[in-house]
Amino acid sequence: MVHVADTELGLAARVRALTRADHEAAETTSFVTDLMAGRLDVAAYAGLASQHYFIYEALERGGDALRTDPVAGDFVAFGLERLPSIAADLEHLVGPSWRAEITPLPATRDYLARLAAATDPPSFVAHHYTRYLGDLSGGQLVRKALQREYDLGADGTRFYEFPGVAVGAVKRRYRELLDAAPWSATEQDRFIDEVRQAFALNRRVFEALATRRPAEAA
Ligand code: HEM
Repeated sequence: MVHVADTELGLAARVRALTRADHEAAETTSFVTDLMAGRLDVAAYAGLASQHYFIYEALERGGDALRTDPVAGDFVAFGLERLPSIAADLEHLVGPSWRAEITPLPATRDYLARLAAATDPPSFVAHHYTRYLGDLSGGQLVRKALQREYDLGADGTRFYEFPGVAVGAVKRRYRELLDAAPWSATEQDRFIDEVRQAFALNRRVFEALATRRPAEAA
């Protein structure tokens, strides 16, 4: 059993162990399992991409603000930004007027509010970690499922592509940076708590997407 106060393990191993159940809860929502199994349609996936647009816009704005921070700046410097890829995907999935056709769901608005408040380095890095390390990990399985189940090619799934990024090496370096972050016990706890919040917010977005009527899919 891993405890937050356990100092034998580095922060990377601790956050991973302490959020295993949160990860499983997000990964097993019906929206995610149905999407992965090909039980949804491209419009439902476009709905997810649309919510990603708002989420990454806020996340990457936060990254810009912390680019010169001595700790958070190292995470931003990985250059994992997704917004241009999401815009290209939406252009393909929704059409040229995609920006006027998408709106954030209430669950996404809550996520955006949380992101806007995550301006201190541990809270910001928590959100950065939850999304980008997930994109570099499970995201790669999602990309394969989307291409296999919905007949999509690179167009429409660029969000999951990291050209020029050595995924394994970046994940290793990312975990080293977490372990090396000069955070007090309180700041480490805040980081872990915020990761749990981020997982919960992602889960709520999936739940909201699952209950939407098809006509609202974009
Ligand atoms: C289809 C759904 C998903 C699948 C199949 C999946 C699968 C995986 C796998 C296999 C790993 C381990 C990779 C490794 O050890 O290198 C991983 C890690 C991770 N996933 Fe997911 N995942 C899914 C959804 C999510 C979601 C929705 C989030 C959060 C929004 C997320 C966040 C993460 C994070 C942060 C890690 C890194 C854990 C760490 O090593 O510290 N995943 N995922």
